Amino acid sequence: MNDLKWWQKAVFYQIYPRSFADGNGDGIGDVQGMIAKLDYLKELGIDALWLSPHYPSPQADCGYDVSDYCAVAPEYGTLAEFETFLAEAHQRGLRVILDMVFNHTSDEHAWFLESKSSRDNPKRNWYIWRDPAPDGGPPNNWESTFTGSAWEYDETTGQYYYHYFLKEQPDLNWRNPEVKEAMWDAVRFWLDLGIDGFRLDAIGTIYEDPALPDQTSGMTLLDLYQAYQAAQEDGEREKLATFGKVWRQIFEHQVGREDEMHPLMQELRTVINEYPDRMLVAEDSDIAYYGDGDNEMHLVFNFPLMRTERLTPAHIRQNQEQRLSALPAGAWPCNTLGNHDSTRVYTHFADGEHDAQLARLSLALMLTLRGTPFLYNGEEIGMTDLLLNELGQFRDTLALLQYQMLVELGGTPPEQAFEHIRRMTRDKCRTPLHWANAPQAGFSPADVETWLPVNPNYAAGVNVAEQLDNPDSMLNFYRRMLWMRKKTPALLAGDYQPLHEEAVDYLAFLRRADEQTCLVVLNFSAHAHTLTFELAAEHAQLIFSSRERAAEMDNLSAVEIAPFEIYLAALQ
Ligand code: GLC
Repeated sequence: MNDLKWWQKAVFYQIYPRSFADGNGDGIGDVQGMIAKLDYLKELGIDALWLSPHYPSPQADCGYDVSDYCAVAPEYGTLAEFETFLAEAHQRGLRVILDMVFNHTSDEHAWFLESKSSRDNPKRNWYIWRDPAPDGGPPNNWESTFTGSAWEYDETTGQYYYHYFLKEQPDLNWRNPEVKEAMWDAVRFWLDLGIDGFRLDAIGTIYEDPALPDQTSGMTLLDLYQAYQAAQEDGEREKLATFGKVWRQIFEHQVGREDEMHPLMQELRTVINEYPDRMLVAEDSDIAYYGDGDNEMHLVFNFPLMRTERLTPAHIRQNQEQRLSALPAGAWPCNTLGNHDSTRVYTHFADGEHDAQLARLSLALMLTLRGTPFLYNGEEIGMTDLLLNELGQFRDTLALLQYQMLVELGGTPPEQAFEHIRRMTRDKCRTPLHWANAPQAGFSPADVETWLPVNPNYAAGVNVAEQLDNPDSMLNFYRRMLWMRKKTPALLAGDYQPLHEEAVDYLAFLRRADEQTCLVVLNFSAHAHTLTFELAAEHAQLIFSSRERAAEMDNLSAVEIAPFEIYLAALQ
C-alpha cells in the first residue's frame, strides 16, 4: 500500500466553481468562496479537488470556452487569490487539479481573434479553416455535437471554421506544432504554480479526418433525437441502447483517431513528467488512453459504470469484470457516478421509494470498488436534479439549441420540446450548493439572484448546516465512510474478487491487500439476507455498517444482512 501514489489513494471531489460557494455575494461562486470552504472539505474527508474551468470565459459553455488559459475569470477572483487557494488547500493536505480544455478555445480567445482577422495572419493555421463547398455551403455534412453544422462561415475571410461543440468554441488545429507548444506552455504555467494535475476535457475530439469525408450514416442528430424520444415514450429499452452506435456513426470522422492521439498524449505525459508527482485524468472512457499503463493518462474514467438506468449488482459485476480485465498492467481504475454533465447521483439511481438508501449505496460502491473515486459537489448532502420551469432560466446553451432544433427543424410542439430539454439539460445538476436552510440556501444573500435558481429542497433538510448537526444525515454518512476508507488498507490497495456472482439483490466481493482482506456486501434490495461465505477464513470483524449491528464479529457461515445494508468486515 505504501507504494501507491497519492492519486491512487485519493478520493477526488469535483468543484463546479460557479455553483460551489459565493464569497462576495454576487450570485455566482468564486475563489474566496472556495477558500472559505476548505475546512469543510478537509473535514468531509476528501483528498483532492478537481475544479471545472476557472479561466476567463464568455461563458457560452459555462467556462468550457476558455478565452485565456493562464488567468482566472475576473468574476471568480484574481490569480493571487487562486494562489492563496492553492496554498491553503495544500496546507490542509488537499491536492488540486484543473480542467484543461484542449480541443477548442473560446471564439473570443486572442488566438482566434487573430486567426480570423485575415487569411495570412500567422495564427490562421491555429484553427481549422476550409473553403466553402462549390455551392458556397459548408465543406462537408459534419454536424456539431451541440446541433447544427460543424462549420461556421466567416464573412471577413470567406472561409468556414470547424467547431465540434458550439460555434463559440472553434476547434484548434493540433497538427500545427505551434498550437501544441502554446498549450504545453499553458500546462507548464499551472504546474509551475504548483497544481497537482489536470482533468482533460473531451480529448477524443481533438483530431478529425483531414480529408473531410462526408458522414454516411444516413442520419442526422435531429433524426437521432427524435427516434430517441419516440423510443423513450414507448419504453423501448433495447432500442435506446442502439443509439450510441448511431451516434458514433454520425461522428465517425470527427472523434477518436487513436493513431494520432496516442503520440500526442505521450508527448503531454513527458511534459507532466518534468514535474514530480503530477497526474492526468481523461474525460473519456477508452482504456486505450492508459497507453502501456504508464506512458499516457494516469486515470481514465470508467463511464460505462454510470451509463445505466439502474445500478444493479449484475450491471456492476459485469462492468468490473470487463473493465478490470481490460486494463493494461500497471493501469489504475477510476470510478465515478456523476459530474456536471449528468443527472445527479441521487436522482439518477433513485427508485422513488428508497432513494436515500440507494444514494448511500452509490457512495459505498464508489468507496469500495478498486480504483480512484470521483465525487461531484453537492452529492454529499443528497442534492437532486432541479427541473427548470421557464426557458429564461436556462444557462445551458446546449439545451437551448436543442429546443430550437426540435421546434424549428423538427416541428416538435414547443411544450413537448420544453419537457425534453428540462430533463436533459445539464443545468439541472449545476444549481448552487445548499449551505444552509436560509434564503438562497445560504449560497448568496437573500436579495441576490443566483446564476441558476436554487433548488427549493434546501428547506427540506438538503443543506450542509442542518446535516452537520444531524448524526444520521447523508453528510455525516459521507464523512464516516470517507474517513473509514482512509484507514482501511484493503479498500485503498486491495484487488477485487467477486463473490456470489449469481446474486441479483446484492453485490458481494473481497478486496485483498497484503495487510488485510475486506469483505464488502452492498444490499441493493429491500430484502434481508443470511449469507454464507465459503472462504479460508471463518470470521469477519466489522469495519463499517450502515446500521447498528448487534455484534462486532460475524461467523462467515451466516452473515445477516439487512435491507439496503452496507457491510464491510475484515476476514480473520
Ligand atoms: C466536456 C465538458 C462539457 C463541455 C464539453 C465541451 O464534455 O465536460 O461540460 O460542454 O466538454 O468543452
